[in-house]
Amino acid sequence: MPSSGETGVRPLDPRLLDHARAARAYLVLCIGLGLAVAALLVAQATLLAGMITAAFLGGAGLAALRTPLLLLGAVVAGRAVLDWAQEVAAHRAGAAVISQLRAKLLEHVVRLGPGWLSAERSGELGALATRGLDALDGYFSRYLPQLVLAVLVPVAVLLRVFGVDLAAGLTIAVTLPLIPVFMVLVGLASRHRAHRQWQALSVLAGHFLDVVAGLPTLKVFGRARAQAETIRTVTDDHARATMGTLRVAFLSALVLELASTLSVALVAVGIGLRLLAGTVDLDTALVVLILAPEAYRPLRQVGVHHHACVEGLAAAGRVVEVLETPVPAAGARVAVPDLRVRPVRVEGVTVRYPGAAGPALAGASLELRPGETVALVGPSGCGKSTLAALLVGFVTPTRGRVTVGGVDLSGFDPEGWRRRLAYLPQHPRLFAGTIAGNVRLADPAATDAAVRRALADAGADFVDRLPDGIDTPLGERGAGLSAGQRQRVALARALLPDAGLLVLDEPTSALDVASEQTVVGRLGAVLAGRTVLLVTHRPAMLALAHRVVRLGPAAVPV
Ligand SMILES: Nc1ncnc2c1ncn2[C@@H]1O[C@H](COP(=O)(O)OP(=O)(O)OP(=O)(O)O)[C@@H](O)[C@H]1O
Ligand SMILES: [Mg+2]
Repeated sequence: MPSSGETGVRPLDPRLLDHARAARAYLVLCIGLGLAVAALLVAQATLLAGMITAAFLGGAGLAALRTPLLLLGAVVAGRAVLDWAQEVAAHRAGAAVISQLRAKLLEHVVRLGPGWLSAERSGELGALATRGLDALDGYFSRYLPQLVLAVLVPVAVLLRVFGVDLAAGLTIAVTLPLIPVFMVLVGLASRHRAHRQWQALSVLAGHFLDVVAGLPTLKVFGRARAQAETIRTVTDDHARATMGTLRVAFLSALVLELASTLSVALVAVGIGLRLLAGTVDLDTALVVLILAPEAYRPLRQVGVHHHACVEGLAAAGRVVEVLETPVPAAGARVAVPDLRVRPVRVEGVTVRYPGAAGPALAGASLELRPGETVALVGPSGCGKSTLAALLVGFVTPTRGRVTVGGVDLSGFDPEGWRRRLAYLPQHPRLFAGTIAGNVRLADPAATDAAVRRALADAGADFVDRLPDGIDTPLGERGAGLSAGQRQRVALARALLPDAGLLVLDEPTSALDVASEQTVVGRLGAVLAGRTVLLVTHRPAMLALAHRVVRLGPAAVPV
């Protein structure tokens, strides 16, 4: 994980409210409900104290106490209704915020693009978007309402107690801050633990994804068992981190409990002595005694719930970090010049991947004239795929620039630019779905006939021989097809839209000579009139090119 995420564990992160609108409305509702709860609490204590005093000292019978009893019943019922409303609102808000954040996260990751994604760990991102965000539910359903109560209830109690007895009010006012102070101390101690717990989980998720995806390879090299061992180590690490967090949680509950019990005892002893001395009356003493524990309870509960949701908060902090990663500046959003008459130029471009020792491309230049097919060749690792990704805008130049008709590529709206071109990456990805669905990704409105034509252009004649034809379902990553068949379906996807610029990165690398010849034969007509960059190692493909450009090995690190 490249960034710390440690800033995530804050009780009420304003950035979280910024990014999830549902959270703001919910907070306002919580405050409203909290005010009502505080008012009912005070009313309940006052009614109880009044009734007990009237019954014991005034000798009032049941008939005389009817009105206060009914009122008390109404107060209790009111609190139950508030509890219910709180619960319902909490779960709704939790679900809404989580789905809002999840959607925003995915949207932002898409905008950040594959360049950013390749530097991140997709496993961590997966864990973040699923389990990480789900852990926020506890935050919204329990922690946040409790936090609001912890602010409102003590204030209401203090106001009421100060109204009847100054000394008791002062005692509560002095001892009350002890609880938040302890909480902050415990919080500081557990902060890095929660972070470590989340980090351990991310490592686990990333590692697990890697191992599952690479299981066949691991099995072949007899490393599957060893990897299981590694997973066990990582899992143990996570378990230890979780236990660490829990230990702090239990200890802190004990400390907070002790502090509040002692404080209540202090208030009780003080008021009891004065009651005996006759300086306060029973009614006042009862109001104070009933209310005093209520002042400490919500604060204590905040401490308890805090630990239940630190994981969610840590994840939310990380989500906010991702959301605040700036999307590469898009410039002035100028219109894309007409590719049929304007050349695409790579002008002295150097690309350096973050963390890489040397540049992947060093001062590369290339011109693609309109309607021209240029083959790009060169030794493996010399930067051909990097140059292709550069044209698509997935990679940004460290130095130099890419222009279309003299206009810098960075000035275009990335989406607008990508609509004008078609790109076949070196390792294209097919998704679970039908063959037609996979081809249609490039143009959702394409008819079946257009899909069939694209498949034929790509030399994917085998599709016609499948019993379900273009409606043949594929598994994840195109499972069910051979590597060469997958490559041709992916090529068909790139050929489907009538794009002005075609960037094809090794379109036939997985094909046998005969199939490749078929593809070369078909592509001749398809590529005519379009501007094409054809990255290839295969001599047969060179027949399609008007010009062959050789890319030298990347310059030695400077
Ligand atoms: N995401 C990345 N992060 C860091 N370095 C990278 C990354 N992708 C590629 N490189 C490095 O950049 C250089 C150029 O890679 P590139 O994939 O462009 O080569 P290529 O010419 O397409 O090779 P091949 O013919 O094997 O496909 C290589 O040295 C590679 O190690
Ligand atoms: Mg390559």
